[in-house]
Amino acid sequence: MYKFDKGPILVTGASGGIGGATVRHLTEAGAEVIANGRNAEALAELAQATGCRTLPFDLQSEDEIRGALEGLDVYGVVNCGGWGGEIATPMDTDIDVFDKVMSINARGALLVTKYASRAMIDAGRGGVFVNVSSQASLVGLKGHISYGSSKAALDNITRVSALELGKYGIRVNSVNPTVVMTPMSAWYWGRPEIEKPFLETMPLGRWASEDEIAGPIVFLLSDAASMISGITLPIDGGFTAV
Ligand SMILES: NC(=O)c1ccc[n+]([C@@H]2O[C@H](COP(=O)([O-])OP(=O)(O)OC[C@H]3O[C@@H](n4cnc5c(N)ncnc54)[C@H](OP(=O)(O)O)[C@@H]3O)[C@@H](O)[C@H]2O)c1
Repeated sequence: MYKFDKGPILVTGASGGIGGATVRHLTEAGAEVIANGRNAEALAELAQATGCRTLPFDLQSEDEIRGALEGLDVYGVVNCGGWGGEIATPMDTDIDVFDKVMSINARGALLVTKYASRAMIDAGRGGVFVNVSSQASLVGLKGHISYGSSKAALDNITRVSALELGKYGIRVNSVNPTVVMTPMSAWYWGRPEIEKPFLETMPLGRWASEDEIAGPIVFLLSDAASMISGITLPIDGGFTAV
């Protein structure tokens, strides 16, 4: 069993599927959790069920992120908030959608990293980040020009942050999941003509559950992963290995 006794863990995207599962896993393991999203009702339900604290802010607003995180006591961060954007090719992409996907998935995660890491450095007890990236950053996926680019940027944020923050005892990693059937993904990946050929090329041949993503996130947050930093960990049923 992991021990989480070094300080609170902030989970962004906690009002969503993967973030909510991560909060449940962490609170069950005894962690003190701060749950972020914009949907106050969903966050209140999660707080009722798990005992987490809530901290709403918009990942597109530096002012809101700075206001929420400056001086916050935080030991760990899961950058899980994200947006799927559109399914489009480089030839027909809507560049406003591209800008918004980058703004939430990459810029938002970087801003959270910026202010949370300052607080961790001030506290002087190390820290840990897990960035929820995607298989779409590791290989080219049809239709994923904006989303895949935002997650590739996030993986670079992971690597450079690991390099810069290591001397403070702060670890930074990405997890790169395959599809989980949350509202973000079901409308596209649930279509038989998309789902069938994709799963045929994946060794495990099925989609992931929210719990199967939360488990490796919690591992990377824990001291069991104390020598792991700067990685992009596929949680993809072997899809990117073949
Ligand atoms: N589902 C998949 O197949 C899959 C696969 C690989 C990676 N991922 C990644 O996993 C993460 C979680 O995805 P999910 O499937 O759990 O999606 P989800 O259920 O749609 O949850 C998305 C979360 O992001 C938050 N969010 C979106 N825009 C925000 C903003 N501007 N400010 C603050 N919070 C914002 C949402 O909060 P509010 O609704 O409260 O605003 C919600 O909590 C994302 O980063 C996603 O890219 C998902």
